Amino acid sequence: MAILKIARMGHPVLLQRAEPVADPTAPEMRRLVADMIETMEDASGAGLAAPQVHVPLRLFVYRAPAERGTGDAEDTPIETTVLFNPTVEPLGTEQRPRWEGCLSIPGLRAAVPRFWRIRYGGLDAEGKPVSRVASGFHAGLVQHENDHLDGILYPMRMTDFTQFGFIEELSRAMASGGT
Ligand code: NI
Repeated sequence: MAILKIARMGHPVLLQRAEPVADPTAPEMRRLVADMIETMEDASGAGLAAPQVHVPLRLFVYRAPAERGTGDAEDTPIETTVLFNPTVEPLGTEQRPRWEGCLSIPGLRAAVPRFWRIRYGGLDAEGKPVSRVASGFHAGLVQHENDHLDGILYPMRMTDFTQFGFIEELSRAMASGGT
């Protein structure tokens, strides 16, 4: 296993449309997934998409810890998971702003509108189809990671640029009353 180098915003690999994975069970995919999980955990991230580690293929790893959940019944916690060739479909039209960071945009956070409920699917590490309904943190996380596969970074989804800043400044503002 190895910790991989993470591309930062500005690198062209992050703007590219990634290619589908032909065989999720191939040895090189198993190795890539293990390295991506190690890299995500080392960087304390909740998700990491292959283009972020300079591999333009359609897969991401993610985890939704219970403490990040919104309490919504469909905002289920998720152990560290890999998804290949994902599809994401909004359920309903409701969008809510969600505070997001990105390992490719270190030090910053922003409120990004995301669909509250989605259905998503893809292939698991054994190449078997999976399908899930998710809401809240879980749904927003999957939308963020899936966007990476289409060359979309969260600032491209933003509508309110007053809700964008450095983590240190934001936590200072929040500590002083959140105004
Ligand atoms: Ni990201």
